[in-house]
Amino acid sequence: MRYLCEFLDIDYPILQGGMGNISNAPLTAAVSEAGGLGTIGAGTMEPQELEAIIIDTKKRTQKPIAVNVPIKVTPYLKEVLNLIIKHEVPVVSLSAGNPVPIIPTLKEHGIKVITVTASVKQAVKAEQAGADIIVAEGYEAAGINSNLELTTLTLIPQIIRAVDVPVVAAGGVGDGKSLAALLTLGASGVQMGTRLIATEEAPFHQAYKQALLNAKDNDTVVVGRSVGQVRRVMKTPYAEELLEKEKAGVPPEEFAEMTSEKYHKIGAIEGKLGQGFINGGQVSGLVSDVPTVAQLFASMIEDAKQRISQLHNIFQNEL
Ligand SMILES: Cc1cc2nc3c(=O)[nH]c(=O)nc-3n(C[C@H](O)[C@H](O)[C@H](O)COP(=O)(O)O)c2cc1C
Repeated sequence: MRYLCEFLDIDYPILQGGMGNISNAPLTAAVSEAGGLGTIGAGTMEPQELEAIIIDTKKRTQKPIAVNVPIKVTPYLKEVLNLIIKHEVPVVSLSAGNPVPIIPTLKEHGIKVITVTASVKQAVKAEQAGADIIVAEGYEAAGINSNLELTTLTLIPQIIRAVDVPVVAAGGVGDGKSLAALLTLGASGVQMGTRLIATEEAPFHQAYKQALLNAKDNDTVVVGRSVGQVRRVMKTPYAEELLEKEKAGVPPEEFAEMTSEKYHKIGAIEGKLGQGFINGGQVSGLVSDVPTVAQLFASMIEDAKQRISQLHNIFQNEL
């Protein structure tokens, strides 16, 4: 945990995950200012849009930030990598594709590399290619998921056993208890997506935040299994439509279009939950307030400390 914070130059072992094209400067800067690692998602953004967000974020915070590059998703891989180098972004997170050919170039420019993985094999491959940190993501998580559908609780220890670099756990983290649990499993920190949507600084539509506040345990759904494009979203009228389309044998190209960033923005930014989708992880069932990012992190750290010390006492005194 300490190594992760020192290596990334952050106060708390908490990373923001990439958030496709709804990523923006206010939330990224708020996460970094609050002591975590704020992350801009490159998504499928045109290079000019991404560049404007990087510049805006750097105006809002002097603290380290990262850019997430979903390798197979962005049509502008080369341009995005050039922008990251040009603007001296200190950390890059690579996901959704093969990071091996990209890592050496980033390392040559002194950029720290995080690789998002969802299996032991991927994690070992990323470490061998030079990744500094592995994010291990269970399929509880929001957004694009691995078709292996491995859970956070079992995946994280297996990846920790297989690699030497620090492992950050993602998928299902929303409070101090889950932070404590994952540190206990041996993770060096956590990455969050869903929980950060329900914060004051996240400039997403109120309907999105409300959907998280209303969510019960079974209010997320995995779409895209039938077309090999697995994604966890909130159960909304649009998600039901996606499932109906799959039942009717939707072609993969049409499904990809219906879950493109265009429809992500319609759901998340415009709040039209019948016309676009909103990503959401299973942890949404635990979301019950909309704090500032700083309040969220402070309560998570305090709660995690208390949990760990209570458990320590129980083990000392009762067992
Ligand atoms: C709105 C949203 C968009 C996301 N888009 C991306 C993305 O572009 N790239 C990526 O690697 N992960 C993406 N994710 C996954 C997050 O980065 C993070 O790993 C995940 O949300 C962690 O699980 P949790 O939702 O249980 O916190 C997205 C998540 C959300 C909530």
